[in-house]
Amino acid sequence: MLVLFAAGENASAQQPILIKFSHVVAPDTPKGRAAEKFKQLAEERTGGRVRVEVFPNSRLYKDREELEALQLGAVQMLAPSLSKFGPLGIPEFQLFDVPYVFPNKETLYRVMDGDIGQTLLAKLKSRGIVGLAFWDNGFKQMSANRPLRTPADFKDLKMRIQPSRLLDAQMKALDAVPQPMAFSEVYTALKQGAVDGTENPVSNFYTQRMHEVQKHLTISDHGYLGYAVIVNQRFWDGLPPEVRATLAEVMKEVTVYERDISQRDNDEALVAVRKAGTTEVYVLPHAGRVAWQRALMPVQQEFERTVGAEILARIRAVAFQVEAEQTRRR
Ligand code: LMR
Repeated sequence: MLVLFAAGENASAQQPILIKFSHVVAPDTPKGRAAEKFKQLAEERTGGRVRVEVFPNSRLYKDREELEALQLGAVQMLAPSLSKFGPLGIPEFQLFDVPYVFPNKETLYRVMDGDIGQTLLAKLKSRGIVGLAFWDNGFKQMSANRPLRTPADFKDLKMRIQPSRLLDAQMKALDAVPQPMAFSEVYTALKQGAVDGTENPVSNFYTQRMHEVQKHLTISDHGYLGYAVIVNQRFWDGLPPEVRATLAEVMKEVTVYERDISQRDNDEALVAVRKAGTTEVYVLPHAGRVAWQRALMPVQQEFERTVGAEILARIRAVAFQVEAEQTRRR
């Protein structure tokens, strides 16, 4: 018995638990860096019992495939953007796609870390998925090969979107033609003119070299792009309890790190885009923002109609609370 036990222990010591972490963005983005940080800390803190392999830039799977692969157990961990959860049949995730609902990151973090976010993560259980954390990228900016200053400038432009009904509604509200497409295909589609424009935080825009194929970028901050870090439930529940606890702790620490670097990464990417000199950057002034907000109102109504008004009302309450606190501190 003792010998067998020892042999078993030995075998498990030689065979680390492998976590394949697949994602679609470049390594030098907030998500890419955080995935590497998770690898480093997870391996360190479990004394090598866990090994993490990170696959960036859709090297293993594209958007939709990666979710299927996770559910099938071909990979263990992902961090898809929140816009990609609607197709799993959890439409509430689209709340993060509603334009101009989150006035600042503080509001976002409170929504994510509070009741609304945690309830959303819990809903993933019914899909065989455990939601571990929300990671941040940033507010989205619009780009095309013509200036995008007023809502009328979008007319008839083919705009690439992530697979979200709300983003579809957003582009239609601007009289543009939404084209859902995997992230890995966007650069080529822009280059070949299969689509005219797109939206993303600047960190993605720059690291995918979209500045080479888009002449105009409008800093509009009209929408948000963040992530849910998820694991295959069977895998997670099957981990030795102490390993699971360590990984959960590591995830908390990495989430703080990720949110810390996201703004800086985006700011640096914008500096780099300006320096490259191939894309004209237009910062939407206040009056312009009001016009965009007005044009995009139907998207909020669409969300209220299809998903529910209550959740948006709760987000607005959080936003007011944050603003009141910030005003008091000033
Ligand atoms: C996109 O498809 O535009 C983004 O979701 C990519 C990402 O993961 O940041």
